[in-house]
Amino acid sequence: MNSDQLRKQFLNFFEKRGHAIVPSSSLIPTDPSVLFTTAGMQQFKPYYLGEPCPYGKNVASCQKCFRTSDIDEVGDERHLTFFEMLGNFSFGGYFKEEAIKFAFEFLFKVLKLPLKNAIFTVFKGDEEVPEDKDSPKIWQKLGVPKEKIVGMGRQDNFWGPTGLEGPCGPTTEIHINGIEVWNLVFNEYFKDRDGKLTPLKQKGVDTGAGLERLVMVVQKKNNVFETDLFEPIVKIIRKNKCDLSNTRSERIIADHIKGAVFLISEGVLPSNVERGYVLRRILRRAILHSKILNLPKNSLTEVGKEVIEIYKNVYPEVGTHQADVLTVIEGEREKFEKTLENGLKKLKLQIKSCKSKNEKTLPGKIVFDLFQSYGFPFEITKEIAKEEGLEVDEKDFQERFKKHQEISRVGAEKKFGGLGKVTDYNMVKLHTATHLLHSALRKILGEKVKQMGSDITPERLRFDFSFERRLKEEEIRKIEELVNQKIKEDLEVKKEEMELDEALKSGALAFFKEKYPEKVTVYTIGDFSKEICAGPHVKKTSELGIFKIKKEESAGKGIRRIYAILLK
Ligand code: SER
Repeated sequence: MNSDQLRKQFLNFFEKRGHAIVPSSSLIPTDPSVLFTTAGMQQFKPYYLGEPCPYGKNVASCQKCFRTSDIDEVGDERHLTFFEMLGNFSFGGYFKEEAIKFAFEFLFKVLKLPLKNAIFTVFKGDEEVPEDKDSPKIWQKLGVPKEKIVGMGRQDNFWGPTGLEGPCGPTTEIHINGIEVWNLVFNEYFKDRDGKLTPLKQKGVDTGAGLERLVMVVQKKNNVFETDLFEPIVKIIRKNKCDLSNTRSERIIADHIKGAVFLISEGVLPSNVERGYVLRRILRRAILHSKILNLPKNSLTEVGKEVIEIYKNVYPEVGTHQADVLTVIEGEREKFEKTLENGLKKLKLQIKSCKSKNEKTLPGKIVFDLFQSYGFPFEITKEIAKEEGLEVDEKDFQERFKKHQEISRVGAEKKFGGLGKVTDYNMVKLHTATHLLHSALRKILGEKVKQMGSDITPERLRFDFSFERRLKEEEIRKIEELVNQKIKEDLEVKKEEMELDEALKSGALAFFKEKYPEKVTVYTIGDFSKEICAGPHVKKTSELGIFKIKKEESAGKGIRRIYAILLK
């Protein structure tokens, strides 16, 4: 059975049993407290809390998911960043009895997996949540021998919530040949932001079965990379690979390029913050491993094309955005490669020198220089060092990193210093106008617009942002109009200090090349704009006068630049 048939069979099975089939939601969730969609239940979160589901009480889906939690494990038999999750869900419809029966029937009757290779885990209870006494009985009724049912604690058999709050509950899981293939969550509780559990008014079911793992078991493969969801991709990498023993690197490339294709096709672009940073990290890691394998320059786009081939009929967006996806991959490769070779040379020399001195730790200064001068994400240097049997001095690196941030911050404040002078106050106005422009761009061109850079002189502002094409005349006009309308509305500019977490939760936009301190300043302009920013800003938008875009141009692949001024 191939993966396509398995996907269809799962959905047919549940459709026949009264489930509405719901399409996968985006990888970019509406919940601002999570960066990515990591589970099938995420799009259904409100329905567990009682909101009526427009599709009915029982639904099933195959959901695109992206998780960074396992990123360091990628390279083994079964960990991935991007994967598909099959799931059946019920919101106040059926509960344990039916859910367990469905799982049993699908795995052991339809797919005919060997029951003798399966283990069933259940929640054994703790001081807060009682033992699940029903599930073992239901499994046994279906013919599962008692000794195959194992009680586990909170760590293993309790799931959720995603994000900061939401439904969660005890689970029962099915492991085949030691691999978890089916996770059945009984959503009985609501966990709030303080970690308090309250019983839900209605009970819910949330099942997750990782498609890649299930395919691996069904196709009797040793790892997910041998299944038809990966095999053609790995083939492309192997075509050019000399060192055939290095499966780890090839798996990292296969997984990361697949993840990148899906993220880019949803509008994520490489940057130094949030989702863009995750994309940059997986792309750069794939690039680095393609170097380790000595692959030719065009291999990553070839891998990307193969990924699109495999998925375009299931997820049309990857096919529709093929050209953009490949351009972004190639753009990041060009950008990173410029400095990569010199950086790698430097790193190898340092590793050699450490080893010759019998030292076990790479100094933080070296790691920091690689970050600052060669764009090596910390995690990548750490990984290369680890392969050579060296640790990195993380503490020293972090100290240098903090100091560097502090210097940048002071630098930024100096730039805005001396507010007494008239011309300097114009910079403050242009700074507030920059925030309005940023929001207007996102409103008119879409939320995928992200700040990539900003520069202000007393005469003009300059703003760089991620966007794939030239702006149309009409779009420029609309953006100007929207900013001017907000100026006319004379909105108040409010400054607040808050915890970084709280700021991000509240939806404040963030742009810094590096990490933020724990306490940040957030500037809000009416209900139009909210950004983490050191300031300063004007008090009311009417101070700005008239906003005028002077020029729009390219500032690199996938990046546009706007110059704008304020007229009295
Ligand atoms: N939410 C659970 C998981 O992600 C089951 O779907 O494993």
